[in-house]
Amino acid sequence: MDGPDQVAAYAQAGRIDGVMSAAYLYHTASASQVIQSCGTVVDLGCGPATQLVQIAQMNPDVRFVGIDLSSEMLAKATAYAEAGGVRNVEFRECDITRLTFLPDQSIDGVISTMALHHLPTLEHLRSTFSEIRRILRPNGAVYLTDFGRLKKLASVIFFAYLNARHQPHLFSLDYERSLRAAFLYDEFEMLAKQELPPAIQCFGTFLVPMLTVLRTPPKPLKEETSAVLRQMRSALPRRYRADLDDLRFFFRLSGMSPDPFS
Ligand SMILES: C[S@@+](CC[C@H](N)C(=O)[O-])C[C@H]1O[C@@H](n2cnc3c(N)ncnc32)[C@H](O)[C@@H]1O
Repeated sequence: MDGPDQVAAYAQAGRIDGVMSAAYLYHTASASQVIQSCGTVVDLGCGPATQLVQIAQMNPDVRFVGIDLSSEMLAKATAYAEAGGVRNVEFRECDITRLTFLPDQSIDGVISTMALHHLPTLEHLRSTFSEIRRILRPNGAVYLTDFGRLKKLASVIFFAYLNARHQPHLFSLDYERSLRAAFLYDEFEMLAKQELPPAIQCFGTFLVPMLTVLRTPPKPLKEETSAVLRQMRSALPRRYRADLDDLRFFFRLSGMSPDPFS
């Protein structure tokens, strides 16, 4: 994703209060359960940092490094973090399959949201997982989430254009391409077993595995964090709150617990 129009469409439709607000809040809450006691966390494929900034705001004691290959995305990310007055985030331009600037076992946590489907082959995903394992200190935290590839094209088209009326066409098109490019849940699970630390747990949304989460075990959230998350859920417009509750429901049915909003 590098063309200025595509970057602009993604950044606009992906606004924190737009169609993706439920997904952002779900991943902010779930990632926070995993990374909350970390010193330094890297975000692989941070894009315009809409998700990363929300996670950073929820975890002010953690230092974050957003990594992306696209200088256009990083320019947007830097401006977005500055505009939000967020001080615990910095950015680096780098390929996530070769994190050469990071020494072995130098990082406490790794997160990645909606970026891994950009990797062209399973071998690139393997290299990324192998890099995660290399840079992560023992017992480090991991929260990775991405689309899971659906087997039927009709399902891909259905989900890609579900919100088409509320978002730029380029964003719907990018969503369709992303769903087509995604790795299968089974591929994530296989490579996680081979390359990631043994504590990793894999989850796919129940029945329709269009979202995947790979994470290390969660820790109880501080009561004030839980209260803020519940407040943010209540403040969502009704339609997006329903989206969030669907995500909670389908991940809970897949065995992902505890629910960070309960
Ligand atoms: C769909 S955006 C996701 C952004 C953000 N994580 C989110 O949840 O909104 C995917 C990002 O991954 C980046 N990306 C793709 N391949 C990459 C690679 N090999 N190394 C680093 N970044 C990459 C793209 O430039 C893009 O900004």
